Amino acid sequence: MAHLFNRNILLGVSGGIAAYKSAELVRQLQELGASVRVIMTRGAQEFITPLTLQALSGHPVHTDLLDAEAEQGMGHIELARWADLLLIAPATADILARLASGRADDLLTAAALATAAPRLLAPAMNQQMWRDPATTANVATLTARGMAFVGPASGEQACGDIGPGRLVEPAAIAEAAAALFEDGLLQGRRVVITAGPTREALDPVRYISNHSSGKMGYALAQAAVDAGARTTIVSGPVQLPAPDHTRVIAVESATQMLDRCLELLPECDIFIACAAVADYRPAATQAQKIKKGPEQISLQLVRNPDIVATVAAREQHPFTVGFAAETRDVVAYAREKLQRKGLDMIVANDVSDQSIGFNSDVNEAVVLWRDGEQALARTGKSTMARQIVQLIARHLDQGLPDRPGRDDSRK
Ligand code: PMT
Repeated sequence: MAHLFNRNILLGVSGGIAAYKSAELVRQLQELGASVRVIMTRGAQEFITPLTLQALSGHPVHTDLLDAEAEQGMGHIELARWADLLLIAPATADILARLASGRADDLLTAAALATAAPRLLAPAMNQQMWRDPATTANVATLTARGMAFVGPASGEQACGDIGPGRLVEPAAIAEAAAALFEDGLLQGRRVVITAGPTREALDPVRYISNHSSGKMGYALAQAAVDAGARTTIVSGPVQLPAPDHTRVIAVESATQMLDRCLELLPECDIFIACAAVADYRPAATQAQKIKKGPEQISLQLVRNPDIVATVAAREQHPFTVGFAAETRDVVAYAREKLQRKGLDMIVANDVSDQSIGFNSDVNEAVVLWRDGEQALARTGKSTMARQIVQLIARHLDQGLPDRPGRDDSRK
């Protein structure tokens, strides 16, 4: 069944008589599980009040690009990054023209340019305006740039005309929004994803760990499910609900994570190592709580096995994707890790920037493979996860001969 669980939908309402239907659309999107925030153009506010959509969405409605107060709350760039989907409904002939010409002189057009999320447009206008060659050309331009359309429907119009130009019913628009996330790119594939931190026990109450929240790995799992994959997360301790239709295997330590991953390998086509695995664990875990003693004590640590390198080294290995958490020379270190660990792809993120990466809702990365790379602009982790899944799907069937030998002595 179609759903929008964990999805952030930025709904743009432009000024046409169908704007009143945006109230019902907010409700339909929420019923499918989405969080909704609304941008209204000036024209839209002539047809329906921001207060109505604020009450329904549960968030202040955004109306102005140059409103210093609103920009201090969630400014247009944050809104654009927050969105997993920008949905414009109704999309008037004017907004289509302005989008096609790349304008950014109001909040809605600026957000449309600034977002890396998919954009879905539900046109509504007079039938003659829809048929006009100018509108036809704008729709073709926007389609060529990757924007999706739902509708318009045909029938009797508010102005009395009959023909194409009616806004598609809100329930059908919400279904179309949900369908955008289900692209079937990994249909029938089996995906295993490691996520979250590991905990390496010192004694029964203390451990070594890190700040990974699991958000990136869980977003990848949702994207894989939406792409049609049977998806399992091998998860360190996190505070996140399991994404729909995903199997979660909970582990604590790196060695437990490795064991569970190896068990899953015979049924795994794609392995994504997003977990922040501790590189070292205490040489011994004390059976009793370590008592306070001298001013200084030393911990002896031993190296943990490298999970993703172990998987990639298997003769029958799945398509193996690692992450690289770097604090400098991000791309150079990531390319070195790609080769040394024998990976098919690696996602490099700069974890020295505390606004992205660990425990943030957004990320920014460069994805590298043997003979190429692609930068992924700063965006919400859900959107980034979809972009990563698309790249994986594109490279999956290309075959991976003669990967360089590994040197496991360095991290
Ligand atoms: O969980 P979030 O709060 O959303 O944060 C996301 C993230 C920052 C944790 C994520 O984007 C990320 O960068 N994950 C990789 C973290 C990491 O351990 O990177 P690394 O460069 O140290 O390791 C390289 C790769 O080897 C990673 O794929 C890692 O999972 C893997 N590895 C590392 C050590 C080890 N013993 N076994 C491994 O499999």
